[in-house]
Amino acid sequence: MNGVTGRMGYRQHLVRSVLAINAEGGVRLADGGRVLLRPVLVGRSETKLAALAAEHDIADHTTDLASALADPDNVIYFDAQVTQARVKSVLQAVEAGKHVYAEKPVAASVTEAVTLTRAVRRAGVKNGVVQDKLFLPGLLKLRRLIDGGFFGRILSVRGEFGYWVFEGDWQAAQRPSWNYRAEDGGGITLDMFPHWQYVLENLFGPIKSVYAHATTHIPQRVDELGAGYRATADDAAYGIFELEGGVVAQINSSWSVRVNRDELVEFQVDGTEGSAVAGLRGCRVQHRSATPKPVWNPDLPATVSFRDGWQEVPDNAEFDNGFKTQWEMFVRHVVEDAPFPHDFAAGTRGVQLAELALRSAAEGRRVTVEEL
Ligand SMILES: NC(=O)c1ccc[n+]([C@@H]2O[C@H](COP(=O)([O-])OP(=O)(O)OC[C@H]3O[C@@H](n4cnc5c(N)ncnc54)[C@H](O)[C@@H]3O)[C@@H](O)[C@H]2O)c1
Repeated sequence: MNGVTGRMGYRQHLVRSVLAINAEGGVRLADGGRVLLRPVLVGRSETKLAALAAEHDIADHTTDLASALADPDNVIYFDAQVTQARVKSVLQAVEAGKHVYAEKPVAASVTEAVTLTRAVRRAGVKNGVVQDKLFLPGLLKLRRLIDGGFFGRILSVRGEFGYWVFEGDWQAAQRPSWNYRAEDGGGITLDMFPHWQYVLENLFGPIKSVYAHATTHIPQRVDELGAGYRATADDAAYGIFELEGGVVAQINSSWSVRVNRDELVEFQVDGTEGSAVAGLRGCRVQHRSATPKPVWNPDLPATVSFRDGWQEVPDNAEFDNGFKTQWEMFVRHVVEDAPFPHDFAAGTRGVQLAELALRSAAEGRRVTVEEL
C-alpha cells in the first residue's frame, strides 16, 4: 500500500477498508472461505511509516518500493499517492507481475492512462480504480429508484458539489496544497470530473459531449508550511454534459463555495414521473401526483413550503463504507475472478472527461467525447 500517509490512503483505504476487513475476519469468498489481507506500508518517510505501523500493529513497512515488489508473497499493489507519482509506481508494479488497484484519477493525462491500460492488459494482471461514489448510500438509493422505474423518462441531472476550502492564511486549509497547483497534478476538474464520469455513465448513460467553464477564483493561497503560493490550478468548474438518449446533466464543482445544502454533494434528477434529490447518504423524492403547481407572482410571498413536499427514501438496507465494499470486490476479483467493472479502461474514461473538460474551458466550446 503506497501513499498510506496521505488523507485517502490512511483513513479510507488502510483504516476504513483493509484493517476493517481484517477486523471482520477477512473478505468473504463465494465458497464461504475468507481472505485476510497483509498490508505492507510503503512510502517516502521511514518515521511516518514506522509510527503508523506501530499504531496499528502492522508487521511490514518500507521506503523501498522495489524490494516490496520483489517479494512474491505480495500479490496486490495499491496506490493512493499524489496523482503525479502514480504512473511510474504502477508501471513498476505491473512489471513485477502484481495485480494493481489505484486511486482516481488513474493518471494525470489520457496518454498516461492509456499507457497504463495497455500495460496491465499486456501483463494480464487484474486492475482496478477507485470509484467510491457509486457505493454511497444516497447514490445507491438513486440506483434503486432508477431500477424501480420511479422517474419515467429521465430529463435532467443537476449536481452541486463543493465547500469552502480555507485559503490557509488565518485558518489552515483542509486540503493539501498540491491540489491548487497545476504543475503538481492539482485542479478540481482533474480531481472531480473522473467521479462525475463514472457516476453519470453508470446511472444515466454514456456521456456524448462536455462543455465546461473552469476557473481559479482564489489565486493566492498559503501552504502547509505557512508559505504563500500562487494557485495555478482551477478551483471551480461548471460543467454541462449531454448523455446518450438526451439526458442533460449539469454539475458545479467548487472549492470556493459556502454550503447551503443538506450535504456536500447533491444531485437532483428530474423525470416525467417524479424527481429525486440524492446526497451522500439521504435521498428525497417527489412523485408527479404530489407535485405542487407554483404560479409565478413576485408580488406575493410564497405560500407553499416547497421543501416540505418531498419524501425521504428509507434505507431498507445497511450501507457499508464504499471504499471497503470496493476493496472486497477487488480482492474477490483477484482471488476468485469475480467480476470487477471498475478497471483501468473505465478509469481512463474518467481522465478523458477531465481532459476534454479542460480543453472545452480553454477553447470556450462544447467538445464531443469520442469512444477511446
Ligand atoms: N476517491 C476519492 O474520493 C478521493 C478523494 C481525495 C483524493 N483522492 C485521490 O487520492 C490521491 C491522494 O490524495 P490525498 O488527498 O490523499 O493526498 P495527500 O497529499 O493527503 O497524500 C498524498 C500521498 O502521496 C505521497 N506522495 C508520494 N509522492 C509524493 C510527492 N512527490 N509529493 C507529495 N506527496 C507524495 C504522500 O507521502 C502521501 O502519502 C490523489 O490521486 C487524489 O486524486 C481520491
